[in-house]
Amino acid sequence: MYSRVVVLGAGYVGITLSVALCATGINVLVADIDENKIDRLKNGDPCIREDGLEELLKKQIDSSRIDFISGDASVAAIGADLFFICLPTDVDISGKPQLDALINAAHMASQNMAPNGSLAVKSTVLPETTFKIAKSIGRRDINVLVCPEFLQEGTALRDTLSPDRIVIGAENLQAASELAEILPKSENTEIIITDPTSAELAKMISNTMLASKVTFANLVADIAELTGANSHDVLLAVGADKRIGNTHLRPGPGWGGSCLPKDTQMLAYLTQSIGMPSQFVDSIYSENKNHIERVASSILGLMPQKGSTKLAVLGVTFKGGTDDLRRSPAIEIINEVSKKVSNIHIYDPSLSSSSTVSDFESVVGQNKFFITEDPYKCVDSADLAVVLTDWEEFTKLDLALIKAVMGTPVIYDTRNVVDETVASELGIDLIKLGTQNPKRFS
Ligand SMILES: NC(=O)c1ccc[n+]([C@@H]2O[C@H](COP(=O)([O-])OP(=O)(O)OC[C@H]3O[C@@H](n4cnc5c(N)ncnc54)[C@H](O)[C@@H]3O)[C@@H](O)[C@H]2O)c1
Repeated sequence: MYSRVVVLGAGYVGITLSVALCATGINVLVADIDENKIDRLKNGDPCIREDGLEELLKKQIDSSRIDFISGDASVAAIGADLFFICLPTDVDISGKPQLDALINAAHMASQNMAPNGSLAVKSTVLPETTFKIAKSIGRRDINVLVCPEFLQEGTALRDTLSPDRIVIGAENLQAASELAEILPKSENTEIIITDPTSAELAKMISNTMLASKVTFANLVADIAELTGANSHDVLLAVGADKRIGNTHLRPGPGWGGSCLPKDTQMLAYLTQSIGMPSQFVDSIYSENKNHIERVASSILGLMPQKGSTKLAVLGVTFKGGTDDLRRSPAIEIINEVSKKVSNIHIYDPSLSSSSTVSDFESVVGQNKFFITEDPYKCVDSADLAVVLTDWEEFTKLDLALIKAVMGTPVIYDTRNVVDETVASELGIDLIKLGTQNPKRFS
């Protein structure tokens, strides 16, 4: 069907897609402007932490299914009959996405592609971007399609190999069907082929709806803390209604990551730019900001007000299972708390190599926090331990050891991962977000 498949942008989406395509028997050329990343990929390092990705990447390298090239889109695209664009689409403060690099890359690629090739945009873009690209490239034989990505970090490979749905927006239905055919899928994957603008909007709406569900769960947590209810039980009862469903109804320290904040802001920008600003959409983002601030002030309320104090933070990535620090609520929280507390120790399973530590330091500033190599060193003699990320590892913490090293153990669990029964048997003061008023000293 396709004889030369190229993926441009080897980040979370691009490298996962490339490895998954190879696993289904397709040869892929992966291109990225970051030479260092390409060198690491050639050596089997996917540069991101995702379950199963490194093993599968190495397998594809050994079988010569995957190849890598650094450079711009025009070189990578020579002779390509299927060219995926997986470039970043960050937004500015108004929510406007920076699409010039993507549109430019699409233009450059199209000039060198094989006749009648397909150019598929996987990045999250504003409605009508695909039309703009198609107009700008000046080659009528190239099919410009949009095929938004719905993977979740932490389960990226599984989601790519077996997605809930494949959405393709295209003017040429034959090109859309051919693309749907080669994408990895399972028998349960729903295939939705539509026009480009609907596909572009579907992605943005999906993420905004997910963000609004979590925002709602966090609102319930805040209400529960002030009314004496248990938000976990409330949300269990609410989510049992099949019309609502129970996913994304777990309260936490706020949502973040590279997608939900950006895509929610992008929808707010879109509603403004089409002349129908929406207070509802705007409030999803601002409510999340308020919640993050409330969690930071709860932490401060749980710290002793006098003397030299130590805060231990367990988890800084935006969710468990990923090393992604982009717009992590944990980082916003520790930055806020650090204005009042100087002695903050951090443990996160992803901060295990010098490169991940330097990534973290480039986000927060060097030497701002003490990074520890295990959770027990982190909490040693701390006045408060706060869990900010839902790493699987934190469900299995040795609470007896934590009690021994902390002295007077107090844990603020914002992710509902610490074993409540064992903590209570050990006499640990465990405060779970969304279950009680988190005040100790005032
Ligand atoms: N990360 C996710 O969970 C996720 C999920 C669904 C959709 N998306 C969307 O997919 C797109 C990509 O996201 P990501 O998280 O994979 O991004 P990323 O930042 O992890 O990766 C982007 C890659 O593109 C490379 N790059 C940047 N400009 C380039 C250029 N001009 N030429 C060649 N390479 C270039 C970068 O070096 C980087 O390796 C975004 O639009 C994002 O919103 C992301």
